[in-house]
Amino acid sequence: MTNQQQRVDAAFRERFGRPPVLAAAAPGRVNLIGEHVDYCGGFVLPMAIERETVMAAAPRPMAGNAPVARVHSTAFQETVEMRLVPGGSLPSDTPGWSRYVAGVIAGFLDRGATIPSFDAVIDSTVPLGGGLSSSASLEVATATLLAALADHAISPLDLAVLCQRAEHDFAGIPCGVMDQCASVLARHDHLLLLDCRSLDVVQVPFHRHDLLVLVTNSNVRHSLDDGGYAARRADCERAAAILGVASLREATLVQVEASRGEVGDKGFRRARHVVTEIARTQAAATAITHGRWDEMGELMAESHRSLREDFEVSCPELDLLVELAASERGVIGARMTGGGFGGCTVTLVEAARAEAVIAAVTQGYRRETGRDCTTFTTRPAAGARLMKETAFSTASE
Ligand code: GLA
Repeated sequence: MTNQQQRVDAAFRERFGRPPVLAAAAPGRVNLIGEHVDYCGGFVLPMAIERETVMAAAPRPMAGNAPVARVHSTAFQETVEMRLVPGGSLPSDTPGWSRYVAGVIAGFLDRGATIPSFDAVIDSTVPLGGGLSSSASLEVATATLLAALADHAISPLDLAVLCQRAEHDFAGIPCGVMDQCASVLARHDHLLLLDCRSLDVVQVPFHRHDLLVLVTNSNVRHSLDDGGYAARRADCERAAAILGVASLREATLVQVEASRGEVGDKGFRRARHVVTEIARTQAAATAITHGRWDEMGELMAESHRSLREDFEVSCPELDLLVELAASERGVIGARMTGGGFGGCTVTLVEAARAEAVIAAVTQGYRRETGRDCTTFTTRPAAGARLMKETAFSTASE
């Protein structure tokens, strides 16, 4: 067992007085390119990171007249009870983390699944609230576990969409489908080229074994985040409506430029970001497939510039981290990643240079901002998986 599996196993035994019998694991993600385009039907190129949410569980005999889940979070040291019947509303003081679990449970009940009473423990190595999809990994771990507990067949794509809906309806975030798809569909040593309109997937091999993906958390969160994400999505929908297209995926740069007067300056810049970012993402997948890494680096730089100037979701701290990384030898490319307004940058770096780059970025960031950033390196990891009794409770590693 990994350290994390041991921790979950011990927490479960301590909390519920017996061992768990199955567990699901689902990774967080980092997006290499294709930012703020998933909710416009565009292309994205994320990968799973080597950090995941693990949820271990065991069924329990039904006590009252309805099945109940008892779910414990190791991060928050809280246990929440949820009735597993349709239409069960959440008390207003329900902890935030458990809303994602409740949303996924509601999604399964809506599909007609019968979920037995169960106990569960959640543990995550995905940094919480850092823009690495800790919430999607929690949703996907929950859904993977529930499908097994309820013996309910669901396709990987339907599972991802169910998790996205949980986030919309129970956490109030109108997110796209990238994070959940990455957590479900990602493959070891591959990037996931996802068409967010058709949900078609191409697994893009990440051939270069001498490269690492460096994630740098700025450790800042700007308050604009509160409504900034929904506002950007609304800007894009407004621009699409004026252009007379179902989503900005259908628009061309020529159309966007021609409608500048009608859409207004802000709408024009938002739409220009989306249309050019979709093209950059397709170009990036092609460049990587053909080993043109310099081109990938330029596309990442262009993506960051567009997110900063046209989409206005970067911030001085992210700009600084990108600038510091991009000036280092051995760096292929760097950009902000995720929703923005703080959070993380992603840097493609030669493995042999990673330590030196981390040192330079960390020192530069502290010197300029007085703050500490947090870094880790990862390779593209696998998507969600179920661990049955034998694998979880008795395997040794
Ligand atoms: C957040 C959302 C995603 C996506 C990104 C921006 O991570 O959850 O759906 O929109 O922001 O690319």
